[in-house]
Amino acid sequence: MPYPKTAVGSTFVPGPQLSGSRSRATGFARTDPATWASVGVMSERRIVITGASRGIGLEMARILIGQGHAVYGAVRNPDGATDLQAAGPAGILKLDLADRDSIDSFSGALAQQTDAIDVLVNNAGITSNDLGANRRECNPWQIDPDLVLQETNINALSPMLITRGVIGLLEAGDNPVVMNTSSQLGSMVVGAAMPFDVAYNVSKAAVNMITVMSASTNKNVCFVALHPGWVKTDMGTDAAELEVPEAAGAIVDSLLGLTIADTGRFIRWDGTDHPW
Ligand SMILES: NC(=O)c1ccc[n+]([C@@H]2O[C@H](COP(=O)([O-])OP(=O)(O)OC[C@H]3O[C@@H](n4cnc5c(N)ncnc54)[C@H](OP(=O)(O)O)[C@@H]3O)[C@@H](O)[C@H]2O)c1
Repeated sequence: MPYPKTAVGSTFVPGPQLSGSRSRATGFARTDPATWASVGVMSERRIVITGASRGIGLEMARILIGQGHAVYGAVRNPDGATDLQAAGPAGILKLDLADRDSIDSFSGALAQQTDAIDVLVNNAGITSNDLGANRRECNPWQIDPDLVLQETNINALSPMLITRGVIGLLEAGDNPVVMNTSSQLGSMVVGAAMPFDVAYNVSKAAVNMITVMSASTNKNVCFVALHPGWVKTDMGTDAAELEVPEAAGAIVDSLLGLTIADTGRFIRWDGTDHPW
């Protein structure tokens, strides 16, 4: 079991997955418990993760639960989320990013379980493969325009609306952070060099824009866009570079070091800046 429980009461000590990457805001290595204490990041955090049924979201949930945090997993099918159930989350909530009614009712359901949250990880996402296309054949000259609209709705607008719905819970939280899962493919630089799925690239570029606009219009919450790496999930495929625990562990480490001083950044899994 790679991520043993390390929680002791409302505090936790770093597990073996913590890489020691540095926060731009604080410049401290989070593997050092003494410095954690000095910046007040050792207490249990209330963390919502969408798409916590599998892949990166599930692994982040497992790690954070193992560290003693209260994780609320948002999934399309709570009864089928057996791996998440086994991890012992504080709550499992139903959320379908393709269904506006589901998004509208999500914040109310969450508010029945907690009066504040400290972190929202908008992780759930799809590619054009998930909409029945071959994403390798979805460049601007080939793609069905409805795919671009559907994918932008699910990958970008739905996270924006989820955030809008829970912003009151976040503002009641401690050092609140919204991590919007983007992709290197949402970068103008990288997307131009990998132009095969315009629906995905456009949707993640929209995530990036929503993140910086959220940061400039709400100064109470830290908003960051994340490239999680190319990861061996159902989406990333076995050809990817990073193992799921490796990527999720680094993302968790970066996430827990974020403060309002980081707002508006586009970061990689390891906390370093990604080019826009
Ligand atoms: N893997 C990579 O290499 C990579 C690279 C860059 C960015 N990303 C981004 O990282 C995030 C996680 O990716 P992953 O690799 O972990 O993907 P994954 O293994 O395919 O998992 C996708 C997750 O999103 C959920 N989801 C999909 N459609 C949904 C909907 N309509 N409503 C609610 N949940 C929905 C899935 O739930 P179900 O189980 O119900 O289907 C699942 O939990 C995504 O935003 C992705 O774009 C991944």
